[in-house]
Amino acid sequence: MLKLENLKKYYQMGETVVRALDGIDLSIGAGDFVAIMGASGSGKSTLMNILGCLDTPTGGDYILNGNNVNGLDDNQLAAIRNKHLGFVFQSFNLLPRMTAQKNVALPLMYSGNGYEIMEERAARMLDMVGLKERMCHRPAQMSGGERQRVAIARALVNDPGVLLADEPTGNLDSVTTHEIMEIFTRLNRDGQTIIMVTHENEVAAYARRVIQLRDGKIIKDHETN
Ligand SMILES: Nc1ncnc2c1ncn2[C@@H]1O[C@H](COP(=O)(O)OP(=O)(O)OP(=O)(O)O)[C@@H](O)[C@H]1O
Ligand SMILES: [Mg+2]
Repeated sequence: MLKLENLKKYYQMGETVVRALDGIDLSIGAGDFVAIMGASGSGKSTLMNILGCLDTPTGGDYILNGNNVNGLDDNQLAAIRNKHLGFVFQSFNLLPRMTAQKNVALPLMYSGNGYEIMEERAARMLDMVGLKERMCHRPAQMSGGERQRVAIARALVNDPGVLLADEPTGNLDSVTTHEIMEIFTRLNRDGQTIIMVTHENEVAAYARRVIQLRDGKIIKDHETN
């Protein structure tokens, strides 16, 4: 489904070069559930941003669904993001003035569907993450775990091939963390490909596969039980 070949991301910082990603080779298949781990500064977010087409590499290739992403312009990358990729962030990134339902419907604005169809699809996604009763709540009227569930519903509303999550439980307590990971596990059992970054072994244990980064390189890539 996606493939990285000798991928590099370098930053020139005055006299020195920061090798945020330094020759990554990686294949992730449909239905995989991958946790990316590693110390602070090891390149996790840089890798996620490139996988999510939010950033472009300095070198190497990124092939997504058979298409080389390198060389695409910003509009083409935006189209790929909208169609193939869903994002969940540590800080939820919901729009505060909008209800849960409106937040979830947002990515459908460019789908060409009518208002009612969008609202109905958003409602179905919220039901899927157990928030049927919270559709008309605004983010400030919800708990952290509920906000993250809204963000998951929003990420999946376009039915993306890959769900990308950068520390999705980083702002949540341990009970809520497990609730969110149960949702990820269920989605993955239903076939959703998931790639997430986490610092916590307990969170990574939910994944099928764990990749360890150090200094922009993969030092370990193994299946979990
Ligand atoms: N825009 C930038 N300009 C220069 N250096 C950068 C930039 N973004 C990231 N870096 C550097 O690249 C390296 C990898 O950063 P990255 O954010 O990917 O780390 P991370 O593994 O996500 O860390 P954390 O666990 O703290 O989130 C770090 O050394 C960082 O300082
Ligand atoms: Mg990071």
